[in-house]
Amino acid sequence: MSDIKTTLTTAPKALPPSDQLGFGQYFTDHMFVAKYMEGKGWYDAQILPYGPLPLDPGASVFHYGQALFEGMKAFRQADGKIVFFRPEFNHDRMAQGAERMCLEAPPLDLFMQGLHELVKVDQRWIPHEPNTALYIRPTLIGTESFLGVRPSRETMFFILLSPVGSYYSEGTKPVKIWTEEKYLRAAPGGLGAVKAGANYASSLKAALEAKKKGYAQVLWLDVEHQGIEEVGTMNVFFVFKNEIVTPALNGSILNGGTRDAIIELLHSKNLPIVERKITITEVVERLQKGELLEAFGTGTAAVISPIGELHYQGKDWVINGGQTGELSTKLYNEITSIQRGQMPDTQGWIT
Ligand code: COI
Repeated sequence: MSDIKTTLTTAPKALPPSDQLGFGQYFTDHMFVAKYMEGKGWYDAQILPYGPLPLDPGASVFHYGQALFEGMKAFRQADGKIVFFRPEFNHDRMAQGAERMCLEAPPLDLFMQGLHELVKVDQRWIPHEPNTALYIRPTLIGTESFLGVRPSRETMFFILLSPVGSYYSEGTKPVKIWTEEKYLRAAPGGLGAVKAGANYASSLKAALEAKKKGYAQVLWLDVEHQGIEEVGTMNVFFVFKNEIVTPALNGSILNGGTRDAIIELLHSKNLPIVERKITITEVVERLQKGELLEAFGTGTAAVISPIGELHYQGKDWVINGGQTGELSTKLYNEITSIQRGQMPDTQGWIT
């Protein structure tokens, strides 16, 4: 891979108010773009002013949805150092996802180089306030113009940056969740385990209908409408009196970076974290017995999002009095403190 060519914007934008960032509403001044063609390899890696991409309307991404993305964050620590949280994890997952989506994954050095150079160029956009970060969106799309259904021989890799606050307007307050029995997010053998744009497209209708009923998101079940898979766009954890359970990665659940970090943190505290199949019937039975202390979603965007109420088959179950639980708070504080350099990074997560 040759050097990255950089073209700086001549019209830098004003920074958005850092107390009103929301999630993904603003993009920085620049983007990173690199291209791949079969027989040619990766070429034309560039940092460019943020703007529209020239794409052929016949590109496979538009017709057959060959698209995959990652979500990660950069932080500015108190001493001014700019850090990434586990970037190799995201590269690894992108490479695995690319294999499933028949796209070409960028090699690790190209991924890292693009990331480092772009964040360096746009570092003034990294927000300072607590609970904010620079969200990073590495994306892979099939760009060959061809209407036969087969893998694109051309891939585009681009990275966008967006200064963000909380993902949910509720912030880290507990949200109401609807257990979804009509729509499925993923099925065995499908795309559930990879961060394909298609998974998010298929989730929109369910989320919209849940919202109309007054719920922030849905709890996704498996094809049997029993096994719990994810919550909204996040992995899910249930804190019972005797164990903490998160659904085992069964091939249709995304291997979330925050999920992985939380499992490691819980292990390091000798807390009884178990990855196994867990059904909605078990959760409701144990809720009735008063054994469920907390439930929460985990993801890069929101970090931890507690579930305050869970709707299942006509009944709303309140969890932990609708309050944020002790463990949820502790885990949120620890992960965000490690990210901000306010707690030692004993796990080696910070780059
Ligand atoms: C995350 O929780 O980080 C996600 O995957 C949500 C993202 C699609 C905005």
